[in-house]
Amino acid sequence: MLNIAIMGFGTVGSGIAEVISNNYALVKSRLGDDINIKRILDLRDFPDSPYANRVTHNFDDIISDESIAVVAETMGGVGAAYKYTKALLEAGKHVVTSNKELVATHGIELLRIAESRGVKYLFEGSVGGGIPLIRPMNESLAHDDIIEITGILNGTTNFILTEMAAGYDFDAALREAQRLGYAEADPSADIDGYDACRKICILAAVAFGVLIPPAKVSCRGIRGLTLDHLAAAAEKNRAVKLIARARRLPDGKIEAEVAPYEVVMTNPLYSVEGVFNGVLLHGSMTGDVMFYGRGAGSLPTASAVVADIIECAAGSGCGKKHLTWEDGSGLYLLPEEGTVPGLGERIKF
Ligand code: HSE
Repeated sequence: MLNIAIMGFGTVGSGIAEVISNNYALVKSRLGDDINIKRILDLRDFPDSPYANRVTHNFDDIISDESIAVVAETMGGVGAAYKYTKALLEAGKHVVTSNKELVATHGIELLRIAESRGVKYLFEGSVGGGIPLIRPMNESLAHDDIIEITGILNGTTNFILTEMAAGYDFDAALREAQRLGYAEADPSADIDGYDACRKICILAAVAFGVLIPPAKVSCRGIRGLTLDHLAAAAEKNRAVKLIARARRLPDGKIEAEVAPYEVVMTNPLYSVEGVFNGVLLHGSMTGDVMFYGRGAGSLPTASAVVADIIECAAGSGCGKKHLTWEDGSGLYLLPEEGTVPGLGERIKF
């Protein structure tokens, strides 16, 4: 029996329980074992939930329980989530997470602790929601040198921009994204680009082995974009997208940015609409590879976390690339102004 715990029973945490319950037989066959959600840590009680009797408000119930081997951290933020994750890894428990802020801020330290304790710290759910992205980069593309990453990495802003392109109101689209469980607790992280910025820093770290601190990266969101910007792009057969990019230069420096772009019709990201995310990787051998899927929401994101739980317990192929990251603070370069060939132009406003 694999006993797990979930910390944070919100959109993603409750989705984990739902994915395990809905696909129980499949998860069991992949694990080769039964799986049991033994504890759920949250400040709230959930009296109407079938998991009501597993809820605890005391972290000690998880860390001191030797039968719990894997913990899913879906609390978000870098406060208690950081303290608990560190303690769990030090105690020799695997931790899986959808918390991009924590991975992008403390990933170097947490991966080192995991390595030193012989456990895993996995974060497939932190980028691209339900899109398998980090594992394919680490395994299927393990042989290749990924040079460039370009993506639409925030479902909320892509949803808003898609609604605006159809002439709808920014505020109504944001409210709908919140209702559907896409937006961050504080949606300014979506709108101002910080969420996409954390995600591109994580993907760049997976690809290049160095973590650029998100605070260093040039980051502009969609606040202030108007229907006129969208109409102007449409007139040129372009679409407005919040683009996150990172590129490793031959001297090892890394360019990265988040900015609204007018994307040309020939780029595959032009057609990524609604809550969907799209990520284009360029590998020196493989060439262009595109990933596409639901970038936010309870079940897609929880699915990615459950896949990590299975990897912790059942192992996987060759996920050894960049098991730990170096500090890339000194390697950051601001991308040059002007048109990006094949992508389009930044929108100035
Ligand atoms: N707020 C995020 C988004 C959730 O809209 O993409 C998934 O990381």
